[in-house]
Amino acid sequence: MIHSGRHFLQIPGPTNVPDRILRAMDRPIIDHRGPEFAQLALEVFAGLRTLVQTSGPVVVFPASGTGAWEAAIVNTLSPGDRVLAFETGQFSTLWKNLAERMSLQVEFVPGTWRTGVNPDDVEAHLKADKGHAIKAVMVVHNETSSGVKCRLAEIRRAMNRANHPALLMVDTISSLASSDYRHDEWEVDVTIGGSQKGLMLPPGLSFNAISEKARRANKSAKLPRAYWDWEDMLKQNVTGFFPYTPPTSILYGLREALMMLQEEGLPNVFARHRRHGEATRAAVRAWGLEIVCERPDEYSDTVTAVYMPPGHDADQFRKLVLEKFDMSLGTGLAKLQGKVFRIGHLGSFNDLMLAGTLGGVEMGLGLAGVPHRKGGVMAALDSLVAADSMNHAIPATVDSV
Ligand SMILES: Cc1ncc(COP(=O)(O)O)c(C=O)c1O
Repeated sequence: MIHSGRHFLQIPGPTNVPDRILRAMDRPIIDHRGPEFAQLALEVFAGLRTLVQTSGPVVVFPASGTGAWEAAIVNTLSPGDRVLAFETGQFSTLWKNLAERMSLQVEFVPGTWRTGVNPDDVEAHLKADKGHAIKAVMVVHNETSSGVKCRLAEIRRAMNRANHPALLMVDTISSLASSDYRHDEWEVDVTIGGSQKGLMLPPGLSFNAISEKARRANKSAKLPRAYWDWEDMLKQNVTGFFPYTPPTSILYGLREALMMLQEEGLPNVFARHRRHGEATRAAVRAWGLEIVCERPDEYSDTVTAVYMPPGHDADQFRKLVLEKFDMSLGTGLAKLQGKVFRIGHLGSFNDLMLAGTLGGVEMGLGLAGVPHRKGGVMAALDSLVAADSMNHAIPATVDSV
């Protein structure tokens, strides 16, 4: 079928790349050992530090998020080290698998994929580890597969109560530049980010923000590393260079993205995502469908995973929506395949794009014969207007340690 107008890319990343960023990347490649490049790199390093709220270094890898997962591990740990991780969904499972392939022993706390990491579980596991064998706690801040966001400030408090020296590693791949995130205040040791979601960029860049404690761990960490080595990076980054050829075009885009986020103001960016999350959930409730995330204090600001009623296949529904309305919705991953579809509401996104997205879902539910009530779009519009009348923003949640 031939479609006119723009495709609706409503998967939870990669997200829509704004024209302004596309234009910023449409420039000649420059000498990556020259002064113009150094200026670009120093600007993006500074912007990334502001974004994750750290005064420490942030390294940038030409890699997908998986690379930055591996970098966090190989730079801080040694073969056979024990780490604590939690089954919050498909991405925490994939990170656990990667850790095992890097020869770590992973204590993997099972979960239902409907709730985030329980801070009490963190405290209990760390308190039970009297000999401090656990070297790191690995948390996925926002589980893209289930639309569950972990309560990080509470997790940090739990670690402090246990008085345990484990490093805290946090994957922010689908929350970065969309949800409030405080690397220094929450005493995160390694923050892992990616370019293709809240940052509105093409896939291809990922990040590690690194605490002092993580840098100290790096000195004794014995896992083999070459491409991912922080020290090689940091030595060169000081003057704005990379140890290997950097992805110049995406860095132009990153500079523009950071500028756009700064112009909107990070608190406004976070409020916009919260508001769109609220409105999406209002629509799902009005349809009479079930949200995967069970706890309101763990709702994701960036993605909503929705159960299909029994007997209806989520991928058949997604196929119909793509064919009819030229809109891509996120598939259910692994054990949620066929059972769940996901609505991405992150990145370069506004009220009318959300209205269009939810309109496509509602029309698709009707055409696919999925039992539901009408009025989801209307409920979302009401939610948007109600949030607006509350001073144009939902009040920020207090999330301090
Ligand atoms: C939370 C989370 N972590 C890790 C990844 C893996 O990142 P990538 O696919 O860029 O390697 C993703 C990808 O969507 C993700 O959503």
